Amino acid sequence: MDAKENALITSVGVGSPMGRLLRRYWVPVMRSTRLEPGAAPLPFRALAARYVAFRATDGRVAVFDEGCPHRGASLALARTEGDCLRCIYHGWKLDAAGRLLEAPTHPAGARLDKVATGVHPVREDCGMIWTWLGDGAAPPFPTLAFTGLPADHVVTATAVVEANWVQMFESLWDTFHAQILHNRANRVTFRDTARLEHYFSEAREGDDSLVFDLPAMSAEATPWGFAYRSTDDIKELNYAHIFPWYLHHTVGPDPLDDKAVQIHVPLDDDHTLFWQVMYNRHVPLAPDGYARRFASAVDDPDDLRRGYSKENRWRQDREAMNRGDSFTGIGEGRGILQILLEDFAVIESQGRLDRTGEHLGPVDLAVIAGRKMLLRAVEAEDSGDPPFARDEDVSSVEAVFDVKPASLLER
Ligand code: FES
Ligand SMILES: [Fe+2]
Repeated sequence: MDAKENALITSVGVGSPMGRLLRRYWVPVMRSTRLEPGAAPLPFRALAARYVAFRATDGRVAVFDEGCPHRGASLALARTEGDCLRCIYHGWKLDAAGRLLEAPTHPAGARLDKVATGVHPVREDCGMIWTWLGDGAAPPFPTLAFTGLPADHVVTATAVVEANWVQMFESLWDTFHAQILHNRANRVTFRDTARLEHYFSEAREGDDSLVFDLPAMSAEATPWGFAYRSTDDIKELNYAHIFPWYLHHTVGPDPLDDKAVQIHVPLDDDHTLFWQVMYNRHVPLAPDGYARRFASAVDDPDDLRRGYSKENRWRQDREAMNRGDSFTGIGEGRGILQILLEDFAVIESQGRLDRTGEHLGPVDLAVIAGRKMLLRAVEAEDSGDPPFARDEDVSSVEAVFDVKPASLLER
């Protein structure tokens, strides 16, 4: 990539081409349970701007620009008065529908309904709060494989990661790293296969080099984003990236297994809201399924990486590494969560990438395809086309894990 292309896909500021484009999609901004009825308004960031959310006593959620429409005092400081917010500076009062009910600064009879209050449409679905941050009327709410499911079919957890959103995607477009970074932790997909035991038994016998096969990678552009596939002699992993930020990845080969999607919403150029959503369209989540096991590994579903940060070097345990108890020394003993902690550590450790001096290999094919998708989307935006992928039917797009039975029988 050259520096110009890199800036096009990574810059999400309000006036940037990608920032403009992303405002044309519904944005999942927080888990529903963060908002208690009548509790203090909660400030949050999304797409390089600041907002507040609050839940009225009748349960409705409102999202406003953080600055009061009068003169910009933070509505995070506002009083909650029943179903309304009252700015503490000059007392403007807004209801959850975004109507300005009182403005003590103005004479009685002033046309308060003419004031743009910075309110944004909100939708709650599967325990997530989504909002429309663009101009004008909101488009239809997206129908994804996991939206509209009953509560006992979905679990969610979030974290803020100190990295650009593209870096987050790249970690999942790059399927290969799982064999290395997650090699002892990855009970979700590869760990229990005979093949993987072979890969790492070599390393255990005194030779530090890891032995593995390179998967064959392929990728194809689709109307909703791109699909990519990693194939080796025991399995075929099919992933789906729905633009802008929905990345369906595999956890298990049984069609009735729980499914997973990661969502990466840029908060600004250097921070991303990470979502892990695990769901099952067919049956309520089983206690021993991937989703429930994931949820039980998480202490705080609103901050699933709590306690693991750049400042404490992600609590890397060098002694466990030296003993041979842990490959990465990160997140040991945290079950399925360990994989994410390892991901966050390496992604944050990259700092801000400029992508002009990389050395990509054949396993990076999907990384290249993913970047091309982002470029395609942002360039289409400039030409005045409708927002890329937004109106496509993606209700049945999911990831698929195929085990090759023949190769297993050979063992
Ligand atoms: S700034 Fe909020 S009422 Fe004046
Ligand atoms: Fe990973």
